[in-house]
Amino acid sequence: MALLRSVVVGCGAYLPETIVTNAALAERGIETSDEWIVQRTGIRQRHIAGPDETTSVLGTKAAQAALDEAGLSPADIDLVICATSTPDHTFPSTATQIQAALGIEGGFAFDLQAVCAGFVYAVATADRFLSTGGAKRALVIGAETFSRIVDWEDRTTCVLFGDGAGAIVLEARENDASDRGVLTSCLRSDGRHRSKLYVDGGPGSTGTTGKLRMEGREVFRFAVGSVTDVIEEAFRTSGTTADDLTWFVPHQANRRIIEASADKLGIAREKVVLTVDRHGNTSAASIPLALAAARSDGRIKEGDLVMIEAIGGGFTWGAALIRW
Ligand SMILES: CC(C)(COP(=O)(O)OP(=O)(O)OC[C@H]1O[C@@H](n2cnc3c(N)ncnc32)[C@H](O)[C@@H]1OP(=O)(O)O)[C@@H](O)C(=O)NCCC(=O)NCCS
Repeated sequence: MALLRSVVVGCGAYLPETIVTNAALAERGIETSDEWIVQRTGIRQRHIAGPDETTSVLGTKAAQAALDEAGLSPADIDLVICATSTPDHTFPSTATQIQAALGIEGGFAFDLQAVCAGFVYAVATADRFLSTGGAKRALVIGAETFSRIVDWEDRTTCVLFGDGAGAIVLEARENDASDRGVLTSCLRSDGRHRSKLYVDGGPGSTGTTGKLRMEGREVFRFAVGSVTDVIEEAFRTSGTTADDLTWFVPHQANRRIIEASADKLGIAREKVVLTVDRHGNTSAASIPLALAAARSDGRIKEGDLVMIEAIGGGFTWGAALIRW
C-alpha cells in the first residue's frame, strides 16, 4: 500500500476586531510603556476578543476560512482537533462546539491541551490519524482567548498576550513525487517545570478558572536554550538542513526568543515569519495565525518547506516539518 501523507490543502485565520496598542494599555492604567514592551518582546499591539467572542467562535471563523481556501465543505471533514488552553467550558470540548457550529455531523472531534505548543502537538496528532487511515480530512485549529486568563493587574504578563484563531485543513493523500505533506514531527515535555508557567486554578483543584502566572526570565532561558533540540531532530529525521527551509514559522511569543533560536540554528533571518508585533502571544493560535498571514501575502507557496516550532507551559515543546 502506498504511503499516506497529511497534506495541507487550506489555511485560514480570524482575529477579533478590537486592537489594543501598547500605548492604550498604558492609558488604561497599566504601569508600562510602548518602549519597554517593544524593546523586550517586539510586541506593538494585540487583538482582544469581545464579550461574545468565545474561543469556539474564533475557532469556527478560522476553520471556515481554512475550508474556504481548501474549496471544501464542512461535510468533507471527519476529524476536528482544537488546540486550546482557554476552552469555552470545562466540557464539552471546544472542538465539538466548532464541529456543531460548522454543521459537521460525522467523524470525531476533541481538544488538545499543550498550551503554546498545542498547535504543533495537534498537527502531529492529526498526522498520525491521517497517515494510518484513521481519518481522511482533518481541521487542525489553534484558538485562544488568553485575555480571559491573564491577570490584568500583573504588568509582567498581561502585556504579552492576545486573542485569535488559526486553522489548517490536512488531507490524507498517497505520497507522490511532489513530496508534499507533514514530513516529520518531534514532541517533548518535562513537567518538572510546572511552576515557571501555569494557571493558578482549575476545575479539579480550586474549582475556579485561575489566572496565568509566569517566571518570565526562566521561560526565556529555557526557550532559547532548549527548544532547538526538537528542530535539530526534525532536520535529522527528514535528512534536511536549515538551508533547505523556505520558511521558519515559530510560536510567536517574543521576537528576541525567535531571533535567538533562528540564529542558533543557522536559519537566515529573512526566512523567519514574524507576527508577534501585530498579534502578541496568542498561545496555540500563534502558529496557524502566522501561517495564514504568510500564506495570504503570498510568501508560503505550494512546495515550500516550512518548519513550525513552539514551547509552552509544562514545559511542552515540539517541531514539525511540512512540505506545503
Ligand atoms: C517577560 C519578559 C519580557 C521580561 O523581560 P525581562 O528583561 O526578563 O524583564 P524582568 O522581568 O527582569 O523585569 C525588568 C524590569 O522591568 C519591569 N517590568 C516588568 N514588566 C513590565 C512592563 N510590562 N512594563 C514596564 N516594566 C516592566 C520589572 O518590574 C523589572 O523592574 P525592576 O528591575 O525595577 O525590578 C521576558 O522575561 C520574556 O519575554 N520571557 C519569556 C516570556 C514568554 O515568552 N512566555 C511565553 C512562553 S510560551
